[in-house]
Amino acid sequence: MEESKRNQSQWFSEYKTTAEEVEKTGQYQPLIDWYDQNSEAFEGGTYAANKCCELLYQHIGNSSNLAILDLGCDTGDQGRILNEMGVQALFYGIDMSAGMLESARSKGLYKEQKQSILPEIPYPDNTFDFVISAGTLCSPGNAPPESLPEIIRVTKPAGILCFSYRQHWFENEDSGWKKVHEEMLEIGLMKQLLCEIDTYIPSQNISGLYFVCQKF
Ligand SMILES: C[S@@+](CC[C@H](N)C(=O)[O-])C[C@H]1O[C@@H](n2cnc3c(N)ncnc32)[C@H](O)[C@@H]1O
Repeated sequence: MEESKRNQSQWFSEYKTTAEEVEKTGQYQPLIDWYDQNSEAFEGGTYAANKCCELLYQHIGNSSNLAILDLGCDTGDQGRILNEMGVQALFYGIDMSAGMLESARSKGLYKEQKQSILPEIPYPDNTFDFVISAGTLCSPGNAPPESLPEIIRVTKPAGILCFSYRQHWFENEDSGWKKVHEEMLEIGLMKQLLCEIDTYIPSQNISGLYFVCQKF
């Protein structure tokens, strides 16, 4: 097997085992440690990160002075990609991994970055014009479904939410994501502007659901 392919599958199997352990035990520390030690694996922007930025960009247009919250901001690639697209905004990042936040800080693009474990979002109600979250919501061992009402809480009315979910985890009733997502739509806390199926981790044949929603 080629060296790069071996490294990639080794990387993925370690990640998967750790994420599954978090699901079983509810203890985040092993995954935080894994992210702390492997932040370079995310440098450069994943497929999901690029796709979410493209979708969000379509809604930002030429607006400026916007506050954008990036949940699971990892190495700061969402801020970098949007910045390269010409987006003029104040970026705020949240991540549970200090290692990831350190890499993101080195890019110097975020106004503020906080270490926090979702569902906790340490900001007041109606703070952000846009919220982006790539590769963090609806993925085993990462942010739990209770994060969605919290995300809506900190978004301004008519603000736009853009995120990726792993399709298999959304469709797995045990994850609780489908239930919460549909509940938010049914009770009218948000409306869905777009739902697209696309790849998510191409090398592992994992597909994703990409959503753009608007807070009522
Ligand atoms: C798989 S990486 C996603 C990287 C990149 N955004 C992408 O699209 O691939 C998930 C990121 O979200 C963070 N994260 C996962 N679960 C989290 C939680 N419950 N609270 C805060 N951050 C979390 C991790 O530390 C990591 O930086």
